[in-house]
Amino acid sequence: MKTPTVAFAGLGSRVPSRVVTNADFEKTLETSDTWIRERSGIRERRFAGPDESTAGMARDACLLALEDAKRSPADVDLIVGATASPDRLLPSMACDLQALLGAKGAAAFDVVAACPGWVYAVTVAKAMIEAGSARCALAVGSEKLSTITDQTDRSTAVLLADGAGATVLVPATGERGILSTFLKSDGTLAELLYRPSGGAARPFDESVLKDRSHFLRMSGREVFKAAVKAMSEATHCALDLAGVTADQVDLLVPHQANLRIIQALAEHAHLPMEKVFVNVDRYGNTSSASIPLALDEARAAGRLKPGDLVLMVTFGAGFTWGAMVVRW
Ligand code: ACO
Repeated sequence: MKTPTVAFAGLGSRVPSRVVTNADFEKTLETSDTWIRERSGIRERRFAGPDESTAGMARDACLLALEDAKRSPADVDLIVGATASPDRLLPSMACDLQALLGAKGAAAFDVVAACPGWVYAVTVAKAMIEAGSARCALAVGSEKLSTITDQTDRSTAVLLADGAGATVLVPATGERGILSTFLKSDGTLAELLYRPSGGAARPFDESVLKDRSHFLRMSGREVFKAAVKAMSEATHCALDLAGVTADQVDLLVPHQANLRIIQALAEHAHLPMEKVFVNVDRYGNTSSASIPLALDEARAAGRLKPGDLVLMVTFGAGFTWGAMVVRW
């Protein structure tokens, strides 16, 4: 087994208070609670209000993570943000977050890697700590996906939701820490999950508003198949890199997109569902926030304890995917 160089020192999360149930969608879309539960496992999700920004939810999650790590914003020298739904396109969410936290000594930037964004952010922060460029880093995923989703499109509206999850990373001092990370991408499949307009290729104008092409579009069935295949690959690679086997894993915390994807992944990884943490039923798909939010809930529920071997696996737009093995 590898000796870790970088460890998690703190964890925090924040979700909006407004609960949107499947029954709420029944009022506005041609859908049903049964369809949504059977196809995705989702029962309810949270939607942020106008006063709850992506950077604001990130700030709340970061303050909780810093408190957990017994550190303050003044200690932070690096913020790596991950979001597919920034409050504005320029500057980065991480810069808005740096200002909100008053983290005066921190460099700040975002990674753009969709749902795996937090795993990408952790990997970048880890590398910068190893290189001596940072000693106390925040890796944070925050999303207000309800604003980039077409709420009249039943194939995406019922799946995507809002929330934030944050972690504090520091140099490891013992056995606990990150044992491996694995990242990969395939941009040839970008158009199976993307936002067609609003960027430089087709800047925002009235025609974009009319055809609603600034909202996210997804070919669900193709994404489903690609997700299971890619996450299975990532699982094997991350376990190999860490020098551990699946039977040593205490807890699998997968990206919370769809219960059926999670079940298929667990089967491929030969892990029983008792070892898998699931909260997609209550939060839907919160993209880059999904894994840190699930970690925080798992810990609060007593499912994540110091010394546990934890496997995290993720997949999303790009396509991007990845996995990480941690001695918690
Ligand atoms: N309510 C009722 N019917 C619906 C709904 C809905 N909300 N959404 C779609 N349908 C219909 C479709 O129109 C289709 O109807 P048709 O057969 O008449 O054309 C039918 O249900 C079946 O659609 P499928 O796409 O085949 O259904 P599937 O079993 O694949 O489930 C789902 C759809 C839930 C989207 C699934 O494919 C999925 O989860 N895919 C992966 C999505 C995902 O995980 N994305 C996120 C990863 S990346 C990221 O996190 C951003």
